[in-house]
Amino acid sequence: MIVALLNQKGGVGKTTLALNLAGEWARQGKRVTLIDADPQGSALDWSQQRAREGLARTFGVVGLARDTLHREAPELARNADHIVIDGPPRVAALMRSALLAADLVLIPVQPSPLDGWASAEMLALVSEARIYRPDLAARFVLNRCGARTVLARETAETLADHDPPVLGPTIGQRVAFAVAAQSGRMVSELDDDTPAAREIAALTAAIDALGIRRATP
Ligand SMILES: Nc1ncnc2c1ncn2[C@@H]1O[C@H](COP(=O)(O)OP(=O)(O)OP(=O)(O)O)[C@@H](O)[C@H]1O
Ligand SMILES: [Mg+2]
Repeated sequence: MIVALLNQKGGVGKTTLALNLAGEWARQGKRVTLIDADPQGSALDWSQQRAREGLARTFGVVGLARDTLHREAPELARNADHIVIDGPPRVAALMRSALLAADLVLIPVQPSPLDGWASAEMLALVSEARIYRPDLAARFVLNRCGARTVLARETAETLADHDPPVLGPTIGQRVAFAVAAQSGRMVSELDDDTPAAREIAALTAAIDALGIRRATP
C-alpha cells in the first residue's frame, strides 16, 4: 500500500507520523520505503541523524520532492510492502502528485478550537484526485491531543460524519516524539511500553484494519 501523510498546514505531524508508522511496519518485518516528498528534507535529515548515531537502517528513506512522484512511487512499491510518503506543506503540485500515487491519504490535524480541521484547499485536492483515483481512501488523524481528551473526543464526533472520516486511535501531545526524532529514533526505540509507542502501534493496527490493498495496474 502507498500511504501519504498530507496537510498543507505546516507542523501538524506529517513527518513525525510518517517516520513512526514506517518504523512500526518495519519492526513487524514489513519491507518499507519512506519517500521524503518535502523539499525541506526533514525525513532525510532524520535518517542521516540515525546513521550518525550508528543505528541500524530498518527502512530506506529516499528524497523525491518532485511532481513525477505519481510515476516513481508505484515503481518503488513493487519492491516493498508499504510506501510511506511524507508530504510537504503548501506545495500544491507535489501534493497533487502524492495524491495520485496514494492508496490512502492520512491528514494529520491538531485538535485546537481555533484551527479549521483541514483547509478547504486540502479537501478540494482530495476530491480532485478522486476523479482519477475513485478508490483513494482518506482519513483524518488527530495528533497532539492534550490530556484533556474531551476536546479530542468532540473533534472525533464532529468528524465521524465527515468525509474523510477520522481514524479511531488518536496521538497525544508527547515529548517522546521530539526526543526520539532528535536522535534518529522511532518512539518505540526509546521504550516500547510508553503511551507514545502504544499510540503508534494502535494507529498502525487501525490502518492495517482498513484492509486497503494496492490496486494492481
Ligand atoms: N504528538 C506529538 N507530540 C509532541 N510533539 C509533536 C507531536 N507530533 C509532532 N510533534 C512535534 O511538532 C513539530 C512538528 O512536527 P512535524 O515536523 O512532524 O510536522 P510536519 O507536519 O511534518 O511539519 P512541516 O509541515 O514543516 O513538514 C516537531 O517538532 C515534532 O517533534
Ligand atoms: Mg514535515
